[in-house]
Amino acid sequence: MATAIHFHDQHQQAHSDSLREESLQGLARTPKAISPKFFYDRRGSELFEQICRQPEYYPTRTEELILRRAAHEIAEIAGHSANLVELGSGASRKVRLLLEAMHPSSYLGVDISRDFLLSSARRLAADYPWLEVHAACADFSQPMSLPEEALGEQPLAFFPGSSIGNFDPQQARDFLRNLHAQLPHGAGLLIGVDLVKDTAILEAAYNDEAGVTAAFNLNLLERLRGELDCDVDPARFVHRAFFNAAQSRIEMHLLSPEAQEVRIEDEHFAFAAGESLHTENSYKYSLDGFVALAAQAGFKAMAVWTDRRQLFSVHYLQRD
Ligand code: AVI
Repeated sequence: MATAIHFHDQHQQAHSDSLREESLQGLARTPKAISPKFFYDRRGSELFEQICRQPEYYPTRTEELILRRAAHEIAEIAGHSANLVELGSGASRKVRLLLEAMHPSSYLGVDISRDFLLSSARRLAADYPWLEVHAACADFSQPMSLPEEALGEQPLAFFPGSSIGNFDPQQARDFLRNLHAQLPHGAGLLIGVDLVKDTAILEAAYNDEAGVTAAFNLNLLERLRGELDCDVDPARFVHRAFFNAAQSRIEMHLLSPEAQEVRIEDEHFAFAAGESLHTENSYKYSLDGFVALAAQAGFKAMAVWTDRRQLFSVHYLQRD
């Protein structure tokens, strides 16, 4: 039986348009850079799911462990029959722990990757027949408005995975302020935040032995080649990921070991030997540092859970 979901398409602007414009702009900049949001086409989303299963990539399994342990406490604070809103829902796996503990009256998944969003939302609707399921295709790196009918009266926003870390601190504040503007007074925000730790652990997580993170990074070039009028050979670039301690972030780059040119339409972009295209930052916070950032956006810290090794944190914040 086909299970009905409510679909809200808020990202109608052809996706390839923003890919085209942002690639042209990003390759013309010094240093060359492109937003990590373009990682997530279908293949990129699948590769990301594989990253999450790599032994070196601790964030996913650590956050799951924290959520599994804290789910009932979270349900107590958020209240049962709340309206759960998941930002960057992807495969919507972690949210199952909350659905089971909270029994919310509705669920809204928000993601930029339309196909992936729809298939995950349909799976949730099939697995939880009592749940009203909404899906909104939206780019939440931009100011956006969440569909009101899916927000309900008692929303709990859930932003797992430390995706907040892919914004720089100013963008993270802007994102939280935008969310603040959409949520009613007293609404909860449950957010996963990766913590600063030993550099070796951090760097291993972004340089897995199996090469999945490398494939994920290089897939961005496959997208340019497949979706735009673009000449680029992904085989002539290599994945680089390292911890920049001064900025407290992992940086991912696509490095060009030799001089070469990339063409998009009639624009030619020269890479010098050793030059890179900066594809992602993943900021790592201290517990206090994140609480202070959230406070600047009008969210008050109510509770925080971590694992024993303090690799990862899940904060429960409340909109003032
Ligand atoms: C989605 N995001 C939080 C991941 C991260 O760890 O920054 C994306 C990722 N990039 C490489 N590996 C995983």
